[in-house]
Amino acid sequence: LKAECVANEPILTYRKDSKERKDLLQALKTTAAKCEEVPIVIGGKEYKTDKVVHQVMPHDHQHKLAQFYYADKKLLELAIKTAVETQPKWDRVPLEERLKIWERAAELMAGKYRQELNAATMLGQAKTIIQAEIDSAAELIDFIRMHANFLKECVKYEPISEDPKVTKNSLRYRGIDGFIAAVSPFNFTAIGGNLAYTPAMMGNAVLWKPSDTALLSNWRIFNIMREAGVPDGVVNFVPADGPVFGDTITASPHLAAINFTGSVPTFSRLWKQVGNNIDKYNNFPRLIGECGGKNYHFVHASADVQSVVTSTIRSAFEYSGQKCSACSRMYVPESLWPQIKSGLVEEACKLKIGDVQDTCSFTSAVIDDKAFKRITGYIEHAKKSSNLEIIAGGTYSDSKGYFINPTIVETKDPKDRIMTEEIFGPVLTVYVYKEKDLLETMKLVHTSTQFALTGAVFGKDEDFIKCALEEFKTSAGNFYINDKSTGSVVGQQPFGGGRKSGTNDKAGGPHYILRWTSPQSIKETF
Ligand code: ALA
Repeated sequence: LKAECVANEPILTYRKDSKERKDLLQALKTTAAKCEEVPIVIGGKEYKTDKVVHQVMPHDHQHKLAQFYYADKKLLELAIKTAVETQPKWDRVPLEERLKIWERAAELMAGKYRQELNAATMLGQAKTIIQAEIDSAAELIDFIRMHANFLKECVKYEPISEDPKVTKNSLRYRGIDGFIAAVSPFNFTAIGGNLAYTPAMMGNAVLWKPSDTALLSNWRIFNIMREAGVPDGVVNFVPADGPVFGDTITASPHLAAINFTGSVPTFSRLWKQVGNNIDKYNNFPRLIGECGGKNYHFVHASADVQSVVTSTIRSAFEYSGQKCSACSRMYVPESLWPQIKSGLVEEACKLKIGDVQDTCSFTSAVIDDKAFKRITGYIEHAKKSSNLEIIAGGTYSDSKGYFINPTIVETKDPKDRIMTEEIFGPVLTVYVYKEKDLLETMKLVHTSTQFALTGAVFGKDEDFIKCALEEFKTSAGNFYINDKSTGSVVGQQPFGGGRKSGTNDKAGGPHYILRWTSPQSIKETF
């Protein structure tokens, strides 16, 4: 399948006096000025319940951005009924018509609504403009365009017909009978759009449970897709309490698939519930999930120090370490540590942490109180442990927003929990190894955690790179040589991890769309 016929959406630069900057400032002002009311939407009808929830700005947590409502069990059941009834009708809409809707949506996201999406992502999810632009503009548009393009390539496949005068073979791409539950995270607006709308493009009907902390940006996507022409009932917007949503969808015989990005415990819980209910279902539900990581930068003695420092600072601390791909553990040879240490400490201390609207901010607050407590818990652990030394940062405050300064910890114990557990915040831990222990340390990267999402190695020595390609084969779904572990681009580095990081279905790649179809082979005899 070819990706090159669709170019990636260019990233805008927001220079002073540029039109995009003016539009963005206006969108930020309008978005911050009110607490927007967001309903539940099922089959095009709006609903409210008495379970009222608010989305606040993480960098200014007294400021409410949106008011929304949790769908209760009854409404979720109505959404399931609506989706199940809509699916066969939607699946009959010719593919070309469906794809036109996705093309229109990409145009709306790239033009008319780009800054509204960016503003909602910035204020609601604490992203600076550059982080919002690569997410709610570029990556989202790329998912919409590229997956549509892969589908066009896919349908060109013609199975062999031995004698075309006698028989003709064909394959058609049907949606999956039932409904699909999309459960999306806060950290990428684009992931929400992808989890809900790529299955929909393939002829499926969806219940979309957005993250509470990405509510407004996800609501913007829902409205853009409606304006582009996605019919009522194809995607149903149902914010909900996590366990109520999980219990209700897994109890339905019509569950066709779950498209999930979030934590290992939540995904495991859904697997268990599906397993317990397996005899009830009309399908074998497909469970597709991405569940986090403990991503590494591994440095060889032949590495370029400056490139290691810059890449690690960006990977570990951009978006406050809340990208699922962010580097959170690092292995450095003794010979390079003095230079790398002074580079990392100097750079980390220079980073400005502040308001998302301040163009000088490198990053902003972490997403919410729960994240703040979890991350600062690791910092306190580092302060107390004799094996750990904080060499940069270690300070935090939640008086106005959930701010944590970029923190670097040096550890004597490569198996300390700070080196093996997912922190999902701006905390980087470094283990300094002796060159004679190179191979043993490489093995440790793989054996000390069950995650395998992203990883990067740095070195100029060709034998080391060859060895790393073997040793690290199963330790990362996205593997980088002499580059940071973050920043995968749709169509260029399809994204996903193995082991406990997920089912590795590679969003942004050609195979992803096939998870959302139940193809039918047809042999016609003349
Ligand atoms: N796709 C995002 C990255 O690679 C998560 O950083």
